[in-house]
Amino acid sequence: MAGNRAVVYAKPGEVEVQDISYPELILRDGPGVNPLNVGRKCNHGVIVKVVTTNICGSDQHMVRGRTTAPSGLVLGHEITGEVIEVGSDVEFIKKGDLVSVPFNIACGRCRSCKQQDTHICENVNPDRPGSAYGYVDMGGWVGGQSEYVMVPYADFQLLKFPDKDQAMEKILDLTMLSDIFPTGYHGAVSAGVKPGSTVYVAGAGPVGLAAAHSAQLLGASVVIVGDLIDSRLAQAKSFGCETVNLRKHPNLGEQIEQILGVPEVDCAIDAVGFEASGHGEGAGEAPATVLNSIMDVTRAGGRLGIPGLYVTGDPGGIDDDAKEGTLKVRLGLGWAKAHTFVTGQTPVMKYHRDLMMSILSGRAQIAKAVNATLISIDQAPQGYKEFDSGVSKKFVIDPHGMVRS
Ligand SMILES: NC(=O)c1ccc[n+]([C@@H]2O[C@H](COP(=O)([O-])OP(=O)(O)OC[C@H]3O[C@@H](n4cnc5c(N)ncnc54)[C@H](O)[C@@H]3O)[C@@H](O)[C@H]2O)c1
Ligand SMILES: [Zn+2]
Ligand SMILES: [Zn+2]
Repeated sequence: MAGNRAVVYAKPGEVEVQDISYPELILRDGPGVNPLNVGRKCNHGVIVKVVTTNICGSDQHMVRGRTTAPSGLVLGHEITGEVIEVGSDVEFIKKGDLVSVPFNIACGRCRSCKQQDTHICENVNPDRPGSAYGYVDMGGWVGGQSEYVMVPYADFQLLKFPDKDQAMEKILDLTMLSDIFPTGYHGAVSAGVKPGSTVYVAGAGPVGLAAAHSAQLLGASVVIVGDLIDSRLAQAKSFGCETVNLRKHPNLGEQIEQILGVPEVDCAIDAVGFEASGHGEGAGEAPATVLNSIMDVTRAGGRLGIPGLYVTGDPGGIDDDAKEGTLKVRLGLGWAKAHTFVTGQTPVMKYHRDLMMSILSGRAQIAKAVNATLISIDQAPQGYKEFDSGVSKKFVIDPHGMVRS
């Protein structure tokens, strides 16, 4: 039987490439596996040979030691690959299909799934609705930054690419369908972006850049991206966004006024989350900064798309409140302005087929927008370090060298 090499969380600041067991159509015990999920049979699942698997800002929260992720957790929820084995209950997905795996795991059978709310599936995580591969407190499904991975509920979840050769040509774009393209798009849709909208995106990481590109696809007139890192802002500028460096210019409203003539936007997206930095030179972590600043700059009646991740437990939180996810959010302001807040994981399956078509037709240029950068699995530890240092790259692991060849 083939081996299986995988990227594993070791300790804060460190990931390692380790040999793990080859996946089976059953969830076995292992680091982070919920006891109630051990032994779960997955004849509705498939084994995927991973073609690409991306490093995400969501992984970084764990790797920085900002969650309760246990050592040994196999990382990776952004998975694209070839189906090499199908379970006995799989009817329509076939061996040889090239597929995008939504990062959420969803059964297709519960009340949430029936309403397309696959981000809060009720049957995959014994602790609470919602699950993902390779993630703390998400049921313990083994991550896919590996050579092979098991994907349950295959017929329901997998998005099959129509043509394998065409897909391999666009694989650096299609690999973003497992998470950040739908996530950025969901942020923009949730913020109510439509033709002519003015939009502020907080964060110029891959999710922020994907949100900015999505806002453009939806017809926004102006997209303004804020961050504290110049090279990431330059990346946003490269595809037509306006930018604000919040380290040099802490007053976001003033900066927006210089660009738009008014200090407010129609729509705002938080692509930062709970590890947000305060604005201004030398500012430290201030977890509610983005939430408060987007309420500040969004017009009354506006909508706030919040894909940025917030947690219920953060060992590295700045104070006791932050350690349990209680933040100083100025809800009074949002209430006074009648804002709508949309939070939570992205329901990837609502969007991935449409976004695939926008990639295959050449309309969307997501790989270019996020600067997709291919690495081998052995380069993953270095990739994590570089990504953490704030380089403007979306690292795509190519575990079998299938893309490079
Ligand atoms: N909702 C979902 O389903 C979903 C899916 C994927 C990622 N996420 C989350 O989205 C967030 C972004 O992901 P990413 O991969 O782009 O991460 P990232 O860490 O690469 O990007 C975050 C960026 O925010 C910037 N930043 C920090 N404080 C800021 C502030 N006050 N204003 C503006 N920018 C600020 C940082 O400099 C960084 O460039 C993360 O929290 C991630 O967990 C959520
Ligand atoms: Zn992700
Ligand atoms: Zn479900």
